[in-house]
Amino acid sequence: MSIFESASHAATSPSARAKPVGAASSHLARRLQIEQLMQATETLEQDVLGRADVIHGLTQRPKTLPAHYFYDDRGSELFEQICALPEYYPTRTETAILQSCALAIATATGPCELVELGSGSATKTRILLDAYDQLGYALRYMPIDVSGGMLERSALDLLVSYPKLQVHGLVGSYELALNRLPSTRLPSRMICFLGSTLGNLKPQECQQFFRQITAALQPGEYFLLGIDLQKSQQQLEAAYNDAAGVTAEFNLNMLGHLNLRYGGNFDLSQFEHWAFYNQSEQQIEMHLKSLSAQTVQLKTLDLTVELEPGETIQTEISRKFSLNDIQQELQTQGLMSLQVWTDPQDWFGLLLCQLQ
Ligand code: AVJ
Repeated sequence: MSIFESASHAATSPSARAKPVGAASSHLARRLQIEQLMQATETLEQDVLGRADVIHGLTQRPKTLPAHYFYDDRGSELFEQICALPEYYPTRTETAILQSCALAIATATGPCELVELGSGSATKTRILLDAYDQLGYALRYMPIDVSGGMLERSALDLLVSYPKLQVHGLVGSYELALNRLPSTRLPSRMICFLGSTLGNLKPQECQQFFRQITAALQPGEYFLLGIDLQKSQQQLEAAYNDAAGVTAEFNLNMLGHLNLRYGGNFDLSQFEHWAFYNQSEQQIEMHLKSLSAQTVQLKTLDLTVELEPGETIQTEISRKFSLNDIQQELQTQGLMSLQVWTDPQDWFGLLLCQLQ
């Protein structure tokens, strides 16, 4: 039995705790709790909504697909590769900012439970945990992710590295998790939303998201937000059109994912990656451009899609923010920014906010 399986059993059913599993894994499992937020009916509902989104997006003009379809196993792997690309500055810039200000963050918040939306960014989480650990604070981490497998893997890695760490993971959508955020035993909480994932949300969705954050927090609790900032078109477009072609593969992989998931027959060689900076909307847009007149079928969605040569499917927006604008927007929602950090070139911003 792998360490993952034993820990997941111990974490989900109390009776499994008595099972003779490896000493190390049962030891880790005592500090791990994973809560499945979705009931079977909700999982089903999510699935129905997910299907409806694809059908809706592909029958619209211009066609669109939801960005979360990037992230099957292959897509998550490709995204990790993107983060290490020379042209893709956000990840390493945010990491450097965190390294320089983590102690200041921990000092400002005092002991608090770290709630992280998305459980992928292990390096960044570690920088924060190290700071709280250095100050002698209790370490409690609550990762939230729709992928239970991803969540469990990153939780176990952290438990191995931090002997005093307690992990309580929530498996479900951000929305569901924020709605049902359990109260903490520590004096405070900080919800962390790093990596400029906020950029995937349209302005209105962004507002709605901030409302969910404020509803989940108690007055005095914290929100740590990492956002990509406006910069030259040339630098932005390079970051989404890397020379090695990884971003192109990441974009095209969405069609491969849909093929697997919905019995589709997208021919990936008949599409081209297209990414550009839309100045007026201040966002990178990623599209897939059809190279021919083609008909695509998605069997289990009972959907037939016609594409003209040159027709595009928008797969992502990645908004680039101004610190002033975002601070103002946070403020109108009751989230006061206590401190803001950037890198020396002002490429990326990190905001520590507190609910009034
Ligand atoms: C994970 C949404 C922050 O927008 O830069 C990277 C995703 N897309 N390269 C981003 C992405 C293409 C990334 N976010």
